[in-house]
Amino acid sequence: MLSLRLDKVTFSYPSNLILQEASCEIQAGCYGVIVPNGSGKTTLLKLILG
Ligand SMILES: Nc1ncnc2c1ncn2[C@@H]1O[C@H](COP(=O)(O)OP(=O)(O)O)[C@@H](O)[C@H]1O
Ligand SMILES: [Mg+2]
Repeated sequence: MLSLRLDKVTFSYPSNLILQEASCEIQAGCYGVIVPNGSGKTTLLKLILG
């Protein structure tokens, strides 16, 4: 089964830390990410997509 693992991912724009050692593992399925606008949802998806 497809899965995705993030292992201590850190990412920041020049003046904006988005992720700091973020880790998670998810299995294939349908997920939602519910956080306030500007938290980094789009940035996270871009990172995952490379
Ligand atoms: N290319 C970029 N350069 C600098 N800052 C960015 C860039 N893209 C997004 N940001 C900033 O990073 C933060 C997260 O943005 P974003 O990932 O779009 O959040 P979300 O999708 O959760 O609304 C916001 O403060 C946004 O202004
Ligand atoms: Mg977005």
